[in-house]
Amino acid sequence: MIDTEEQLARALEAVAGAADLKALDDVRVGWMGKKGHITDLMKSMGSLTAEERPVMGQKVNDLKRAVAASIEDRKTALADDALREKLLAETVDVTLAGTGQQSGGLHPVTQTIERITSLFGQLGFTVAEGPEIENDFYNFEALNIPAHHPARAMHDTFYFGDGKLLRTHTSSVQIRHMQNNGAPCRVLSPGRVYRCDSDQTHTPMFHQVEGLYIDKHVSFSDLMGHLEQFLKLFFDQGDMEVRFRPSYFPFTEPSTEVDVRAPGGKWVEVLGSGLVHPNVLRAVGVDPNEFQGYAFGLGVERLAMMRYGADDLRVFFENDVRFLSQFR
Ligand code: FA5
Ligand code: MG
Repeated sequence: MIDTEEQLARALEAVAGAADLKALDDVRVGWMGKKGHITDLMKSMGSLTAEERPVMGQKVNDLKRAVAASIEDRKTALADDALREKLLAETVDVTLAGTGQQSGGLHPVTQTIERITSLFGQLGFTVAEGPEIENDFYNFEALNIPAHHPARAMHDTFYFGDGKLLRTHTSSVQIRHMQNNGAPCRVLSPGRVYRCDSDQTHTPMFHQVEGLYIDKHVSFSDLMGHLEQFLKLFFDQGDMEVRFRPSYFPFTEPSTEVDVRAPGGKWVEVLGSGLVHPNVLRAVGVDPNEFQGYAFGLGVERLAMMRYGADDLRVFFENDVRFLSQFR
């Protein structure tokens, strides 16, 4: 008769030697599979005597159960090992130094625009934007600047050659807004403007915020009062010196440019403004005998420079993170 004890010892050795789940499965097939050793043992029992057969049957069954149990145990052990290895490999050393992350922030120009729109928002102004690529009508004609008007020379315009141009000021939005909405109105139009101009205080692209307030009883003293109050609040400085200097714009009459006194004592121009010219109102179908009002155009970078104490306008567009990170 076959020695099942010895068979079991061999099987257990094979199971213990299986290094992974794949090898273990090979062992299982070799012993328990259709052509495995135990199946062979069962088949060979046909040649035994009637007395030997039940004894041997019992032993083979015991062997089968023992081999199956040892395979199950080994399987569990291998799975545990695999998990442990995976966990070890994925260990995170929480004491290591981090790679460093810095939070971003709004660009100082954006922050300045938000400050302006929020202050005028308290006076009931809402935001209305317009396109940067304009045509002659919106940038000049409707603003009482006909062709060959000498004021065009002051604008250093970038032309595309097909009648289109880059707007030289946000005043073009006054026209678009009144065409679409009529009067009365109280709007702010922040945005980029372009001029062929470049030095320490001029860049070819800069930002303006246009203001337009049209109603039945808007006066020049409203203009002066609102702008002076705005500038004092903007700079958080109740005793800020503000100067209204007579000026000329074809689209306003009378017109004034407004300067503020910089810390060094120098006057810096921050905006142009005036009472909207009757021709401008007529160009958009608003009756100048019924409505009147003021308009202004603020230089955003000028205000930002003064507020943050920058002495060169160009730093706002060089995107040096060492500069920008100061405004986070
Ligand atoms: C105008 O652009 C008029 N449209 C303003 C206006 C609006 C007047 C409504 C009346 C009624 P001006 O060219 O002066 O005006 O520009 C207005 C402001 O933009 C200036 O006071 C200045 O603060 C700023 N600015 C002008 N040119 C530049 C430039 N190249 N770089 C940076 N800021 C500039
Ligand atoms: Mg000016």
